[in-house]
This record gives sequence, C-alpha cells and structure tokens, in this order.
Amino acid sequence: MTPPKIFITRLIPDPGLLLVKENFQADIWPHELPPTRVQLIERSRHVEGLLCTLTERVDAELMDVMGPQLKVISSMSVGVDHIDVAAATARKIPVGNTPGVLTDATADQAFALLLAAARRITEAERFVRAGRWVTWIPNLLLGADLAGATLGIIGFGRIGQAVAKRAQGFDMRVIYYSPSAQPAYGAQPVGLDSLLRESDFISLHVPLTAETKHLVNADFLAKMKPNAILINTTRGPVLDQEALYQALKTKQIQAAALDVTDPEPLPMNSPLLELENCLIVPHLGSASKKTRDMMSLLAAQNLVAGLKGERLPNCVNPQVY
Ligand code: GLV
Repeated sequence: MTPPKIFITRLIPDPGLLLVKENFQADIWPHELPPTRVQLIERSRHVEGLLCTLTERVDAELMDVMGPQLKVISSMSVGVDHIDVAAATARKIPVGNTPGVLTDATADQAFALLLAAARRITEAERFVRAGRWVTWIPNLLLGADLAGATLGIIGFGRIGQAVAKRAQGFDMRVIYYSPSAQPAYGAQPVGLDSLLRESDFISLHVPLTAETKHLVNADFLAKMKPNAILINTTRGPVLDQEALYQALKTKQIQAAALDVTDPEPLPMNSPLLELENCLIVPHLGSASKKTRDMMSLLAAQNLVAGLKGERLPNCVNPQVY
C-alpha cells in the first residue's frame, strides 16, 4: 500500500511534528513565511491529509486540487474562517481545529491589551524612548481604572468566560452579550445596546462569520461611551477599521487595542498606525510556548485520526460522520 501523501503548510512546534512523523511521512513546508497560493496549490495536489494554519485559505478550489482521496483538513487554530467548512462538509471531509488549549493564553492576551490600553503602556513606553521623560508630572499620561469599571464581553464562549474570570479578580462589573450563553463568573447577560451604553471596556470574542463581519461599525461605535476602550482578539474583519479610525481620531471613543487586523499584516501606511490611542500587536492571542505546543499536538492528533479513518478529537463539522 502506498503511504498517504500529507502536506503540512508551516513549521509547527515539535510536539505536533513528532506525532505526525511517528505515524507518517509528510511533506513539511520548511520556510518561516507561508507558501503562496500557487505554492500551496502545487504542494497540496492529491494529498490525503492537510495540516494548515490560519494563513492558508482552504477553499473549494483547493479541495478540488487535493482531490477525492482527501481524508482530513486539520488547522492549528481555533478559528476556521479561513476554511470553507461547508465545502468540506459537502465533500464529507472532516475539519479539525484546536479549541480549549488556547483559552487561557487568549484570555491573558485580551486582558494584557485591556490593561495596556487602560494605563497607556505602549504610549508611555514610546514617550520614554523618545527622551521626553523630564520629571514626575501630576497629570502625565493619566489612564483609566479597572476597579469598579464595567467590562462588556461580546461572545461568551470559552475565551469570553475566561476573560470574565480574570475581570472578577480586578473588581470589575462584567456584563455580556451572547444570546445562548449561560451566566458565569458573576457576569450578567444584557442586550447589545445596553452593553454598548454601559461598558467602559468592550472585549470582542465572537468568531468571524457572515453575521459578525463588521459587527463593530459606525453605528456600534456611536453607541459606546466616550471614555470606552475596545479590545479585539478575535478576527480583524469583525470590526470596520475605517469606522474605528474615525471614532478614535475624533475621540468618539477613548482607545482601542487590537491583536488582529484586516488585512494581516496591517499595511505600514494604515492610518491606524498614526494614532496614539490605538495599540496594535501582530496576532499573538495564543502565542505562549506551552499553548502553541498544545495546539500543534492537537492539530497533529486531528490529522492522524483523520488519516486512520478515525473520528477527529476536535471536529468542527461532525455532521460528516
Ligand atoms: C488564532 O487566532 C486561532 O484561531 O487559533
């Protein structure tokens, strides 16, 4: 029997690579930068298994290139908006992702951004590096308090709840908007308009779907408090960046902290980069060593299970079974 052809699109951390290598021979993209679309199509031809990350668009065209022997698509990510899951389901291909293992790291990142924006940490650091620290000044770079402030969480799944848990320790009042989620960690469910009206901080935790694209638009921003700070650790397109730029520039809202942008990377000529009240980091929500190790392992477990014809440990389209 010929061994299955497998393509791993990135150099994922060792735990995942070792598991794949113990079971199969795989074609592993060796470069730090991802394959281009043309390279991806070329290397994916006739594979039985694909292990990708969120930088690869896995659409119907690519699935057709992979061919009818394709058994599994496994992504080292919790988000699967880069994969046409409906097209995979129509072809009876299970799609795996890596939820759970990155909950704490992503909630930590959301909270790090919340604190950094509240206390203007990156702005203050730029101030020091620019040689502008002359003396202690009573009014210098004043920020916002967390204790007693209201945090509004949009999307109250695993990560949203983990953010609420952290906020409890900072004596924040927590409200959330998430139609089907049960209350947890002292957070109270509210309607979206109430959340926008009452929150001093808003943290986004909804996946990117057709319904959540540009959820944060001019109308949403206009309903926020003028002192409010917006944190986005989910996906860039959940937010209309042009509307956000206007709201930040005109101080309609206080500040934003973005782990994700649209597109990624954010072009260096993006007007957002001119704003002192916009903090931007390069999509690092799950970027702790332990978390990325666990993500790579889970992605490899999904891949190996799919290739062996077993049920994936984490399958986003279980209706294929
Ligand atoms: C990161 O953004 C992920 O979806 O895992």
